[in-house]
Amino acid sequence: GTVTIGIDDIELATSHHVVRLDDFAEANGTDPNKFRLGLGQDEFSFPAPDEDVVTMAAAAAAPIIQRSGTEGIRTMLFATESGIDQSKAAGMAVHSLLDLPSQMRVVEVKEACYSATAALQAAVGIVTRSPGQRVLVIASDVARYALDSPGEPTQGAGAVAMLVSADPKLLEIEPVSGLNSADVDDFWRPNDSTTAIVDGALSVTAYLDALTGAWTDLAAQGGPEMAEIDRVLYHQPFTKMAKKAQVHLAGLTGEDLDTEIVAGGSGAAGTDVSNVAAAGPRDTGLATSTLYNRRLGNSYTASLYAGLCSLLDHDEDLAGKRIGLFSYGSGSVGEFFTARVVPGYEQHSRRQAVTEALDARVPLSIDEYRALHAAELSSAEDVSTPKVTAGPFRFAGIKGRARLYERA
Ligand code: CAA
Repeated sequence: GTVTIGIDDIELATSHHVVRLDDFAEANGTDPNKFRLGLGQDEFSFPAPDEDVVTMAAAAAAPIIQRSGTEGIRTMLFATESGIDQSKAAGMAVHSLLDLPSQMRVVEVKEACYSATAALQAAVGIVTRSPGQRVLVIASDVARYALDSPGEPTQGAGAVAMLVSADPKLLEIEPVSGLNSADVDDFWRPNDSTTAIVDGALSVTAYLDALTGAWTDLAAQGGPEMAEIDRVLYHQPFTKMAKKAQVHLAGLTGEDLDTEIVAGGSGAAGTDVSNVAAAGPRDTGLATSTLYNRRLGNSYTASLYAGLCSLLDHDEDLAGKRIGLFSYGSGSVGEFFTARVVPGYEQHSRRQAVTEALDARVPLSIDEYRALHAAELSSAEDVSTPKVTAGPFRFAGIKGRARLYERA
């Protein structure tokens, strides 16, 4: 038969600290439901001083390398929009921390939250040409907005590592994609700013416009119809955005899709359970795919793939099913592509490890969080960072303007 190519293995890692949005609401005198219901977020991950996109990326990739070794891995594509250097790829430090072979190419890719999808498609292309090769794709980001800005409660941190290969064990990526690019200033981060600049209302409409464009192009390219797609994953800057996207896609396709982001119908919305008809709106995994992200916050390039982890880990009926994935990066690029879930995908679940990692995060008081957020290191000063993280890798400090990393 023909060679199938896609995701053979996937892992999710996050940071040492967490900020609870109930605490955040109390400190700001805001109704906690503004976050839990209004944004669909409960908490956000926040890095310790000795963590960054490199340490989370290495933590995500390490178990994959441990399971399947390095044979045939000749490329690492590192997707991020919170890179640690203007020139050197952040993946180079991961390459070193994981003792990967020298006979590799390592690069960083950028287009806001979209670039992990570009990396994934490039990886599929490489494996198509050389089916014996495997490509390590890592998406890792720290979402940072200014203190006291509307984006602040949608911060977060996380990394997803994926191994792309022929004859994959999890997901076969299908060849047709719907694409949409439009030059728009909805969200960006100037070179001299450590926090993102965002026009919130514009970013939401730009996201939905990109979904329209990508979906329309998918149809023009001969892609599947909505009735042939069993589950849909969206980029999740906050999980309520996935709900908005689902409502939008239902409108575009004329299909009755379930738009609840909380599993089992929403008590909060006051649903009368006795009225729920047997043939209600079709469940495409919206609630199931937002469980991790509610607790992680925005992980930018990793967010769509954290949603994929959540779906794979909580849906027992995915074998052979087709998933639609909508990737969005401000600025902007949208891509809608599809994949088939490989039977046996459930044999390796991340559910226990991810849940334990989320539960183990050390909560920050709002005062502690604000102090950490405000602390910025200058590359001009040599510094050793205090040992805080309980993760496997740490950012050790700066020497001679270079960043140093070590196994913790
Ligand atoms: N109980 C329940 N709901 C409440 C509530 C309460 N007490 N108070 C407010 N809400 C609801 C509002 O009704 C609103 O719901 P809808 O969106 O359904 O209308 C929701 O909470 C948000 O409240 P506001 O409209 O007042 O908006 P805000 O000032 O909190 O800002 C935001 C929201 C613009 C998304 C802001 O969080 C932001 O700027 N975030 C960063 C940008 C972003 O994530 N954009 C998403 C698209 S861009 C992208 O996807 C790329 C990326 O990763 C950044």
